[in-house]
Amino acid sequence: MVERNVNSFKLISKKPLFFFFSMTSIMFLMSWLFVFRSTSRPHFIYHNLLPNSKLFSTPEDSKFHTKIPNVESSFGNRAILVDNEDGEDESETKNSNDGGKCSNRNDDFLLKVFMYDLPSEFHFGLLNWKPSGNSVWPNVRTTIPGYPGGLNLQHSIEFWLTLDILASEIPNAPKAKTVIRVRNSSEADIIFVPFFSSLSYNRNSKPTPNEKKTRNMILQEKLVKYLTSQEEWKRSKGKDHLIIAHHPNSMLDARMKLWPATFILSDFGRYPSSIANVEKDVIAPYKHLIPSYVNDNSNFDSRTTLLYFQGAIYRKDGGYVRQELYYSLKNEKDVHFSFGSIQKDGIKKATEGMRSSKFCLNIAGDTPSSNRLFDAIASHCVPVIISDAIELPFEDVLDYSEFCIFVRTIDAVEENYLINFIRSIGKEEWTKMWNKLKEVEHFFEFNFPSKEGDAVQMIWQAVSHKVPPLKLKLNRFRRYSRSPPSIEKELKIPLPKNFW
Ligand SMILES: *[C@@H]1O[C@H](CO)[C@@H](O)[C@H](O)[C@H]1NC(C)=O
Repeated sequence: MVERNVNSFKLISKKPLFFFFSMTSIMFLMSWLFVFRSTSRPHFIYHNLLPNSKLFSTPEDSKFHTKIPNVESSFGNRAILVDNEDGEDESETKNSNDGGKCSNRNDDFLLKVFMYDLPSEFHFGLLNWKPSGNSVWPNVRTTIPGYPGGLNLQHSIEFWLTLDILASEIPNAPKAKTVIRVRNSSEADIIFVPFFSSLSYNRNSKPTPNEKKTRNMILQEKLVKYLTSQEEWKRSKGKDHLIIAHHPNSMLDARMKLWPATFILSDFGRYPSSIANVEKDVIAPYKHLIPSYVNDNSNFDSRTTLLYFQGAIYRKDGGYVRQELYYSLKNEKDVHFSFGSIQKDGIKKATEGMRSSKFCLNIAGDTPSSNRLFDAIASHCVPVIISDAIELPFEDVLDYSEFCIFVRTIDAVEENYLINFIRSIGKEEWTKMWNKLKEVEHFFEFNFPSKEGDAVQMIWQAVSHKVPPLKLKLNRFRRYSRSPPSIEKELKIPLPKNFW
């Protein structure tokens, strides 16, 4: 009984306590809200706390905006209202009228590219295309000037990338959303230099009797002069520029002057590492010359040639390995090893050869890379790479060991090492790699219009990976832009190594 009384007493005494506590809490909350609202601009705090205030000006967020009146007291949305007061809403309306050229729509894209309107002699003019009217560009909706075939095609990267930039301006065209052309260079992630340097080398590097300089050299000189006089170049010293020099001999003269830019290359074989390196530059695949193997129903047993090689003999470094291998492999019955580069009539033979082989050899030639690797991939012939200094495109995304065999040069020239090693790879392992080749081959296809996950898009993605470190470099570069250095001091105090 005593206990009960105690309990009921507790119950009674708890009620007013609870009531008191609730009332004070409510009053406290109300007073706090009142104080908050009467403060002049409390939303400043929240505005600054927003992860990305720009987010609120994208078109998708217009849905968000319409909700604002109902949830006005919520803190986040007060910040949106501030943005609206600043006129972000208006820019959105403008956007929908001008075909989406303003910056907001561009946020959907990975890479914003500003492209110089270089005279056509630097690009499509080299394809005998002539500009009409004021534009230096063909209308890619109606005319695509043809790129010359044969061996020229393997370095046609410049052509596909430029076309993709032009196509990004076609409204409502279905396209892979990687790159968009912007007309205001201050808004761009990268400044694209549309010089078809490989074609210029292939077409115009033979001196004519009356000229001291080849047309290719003259174009490069003109390009250097043009670029270094542009505001865009001056403000970054070219660091945010993108230049394509896929043919190992292209840009031979200009590369030493334009090196702060990011290059798109096939390898670094003919470059000093200060001019081109993995950190700064992008490796792009060759365009394969052998047609893609559609409906490949072959298998380990139906591909009767074990190892296939077709290539030129070089007298330089690579030539030694090729000759050594030739002597050690020439007596193997299921090995095809012949010299001679693929010419037009040779493509058909090489196609048949690669498609009926299990493995295709890639030996370093006069450069570490060659289109042979990409021909092998297109033929689903497992590449055997003997080229210690080879650079592979998109290697930050692709694990080449899943579909290629790498052999060190020093091992490959050991007697019987290579042939024994290749013979030791069984049907199951080979089939895994063959399947993987079919999975990855689209990364090496150049298309117009470009497709999701093709070589064009992969190159843009590789370029976009260079942008954050580039911006870091540029911002560091600008630290002292408001305080010009006294010249004597600048000479005496060198900047730390790799400062830029
Ligand atoms: C270009 O963009 C910058 C930065 O967004 C802007 O300040 C400038 O006014 C723009 N210039 C033109 C001509 O639109």
